Amino acid sequence: MKLEPSTFDNFYRVLTGVIVPRPIAFVSTMSSDGVVNLAPYSFFNAVASDPPTIVFSSTRHTGVKRKDTLANIEETGEFIVNVVVDDIAEAMNITAAEYPEEVNEFDLAGLTPVSADLVKCPRVQESPVNMECRLNQIISLGSGEHQHGLVIGEVIMMHVRDDIIDGHRINHALLKPTGRLAGSMYCRTSDVYEMPRPIYNPET
Ligand SMILES: Cc1cc2nc3c(=O)[nH]c(=O)nc-3n(C[C@H](O)[C@H](O)[C@H](O)COP(=O)(O)O)c2cc1C
Repeated sequence: MKLEPSTFDNFYRVLTGVIVPRPIAFVSTMSSDGVVNLAPYSFFNAVASDPPTIVFSSTRHTGVKRKDTLANIEETGEFIVNVVVDDIAEAMNITAAEYPEEVNEFDLAGLTPVSADLVKCPRVQESPVNMECRLNQIISLGSGEHQHGLVIGEVIMMHVRDDIIDGHRINHALLKPTGRLAGSMYCRTSDVYEMPRPIYNPET
């Protein structure tokens, strides 16, 4: 079967169904008036190591209201990516409804805001990894109601729970990251295996 995005209805659903599993950025921000916001974004990844750079993408509007995360980052130039793990997956889901901008999703989801070192918005205490980010740039993609802002941010400070890190190695059995499949389907990373990368040797 061939699917052409311009003629296949709701191509987005197939696209997000095949690029799986996706990590989930739980993004905390603060408006210039001091209103705290928290929401999940699974168009998310790391894209450069030096400077350490992450991206996530947000639609500008939901059809009903603006996306507060994008608006806050445009206002303040900073945000925090908290990693979603199994223990906070349900709390993450609670924050995803389209609440008015004055709502603090930390309160709604029963999550604890804690101070960050270099940015004003709070970290999620219950998340084992928090990445304080400074905005590099926002690239606009698409137009009209489909317009997205691709947020490019530099990680300027990372907080990692002590028990999950040993040197540079992260213990994924303890981290328990949550993966997003399509729609409301998620997965765990409890079935992992090792596959060392081959080394090319031109003399053999
Ligand atoms: C697991 C999950 C992943 C999501 N990923 C995205 C995404 O990548 N981009 C996006 O625009 N919305 C995404 N959403 C929807 C937003 O979280 C939702 O619109 C939220 O209300 C935005 O909140 P805000 O206005 O406070 O930023 C996702 C929702 C869930 C549950």
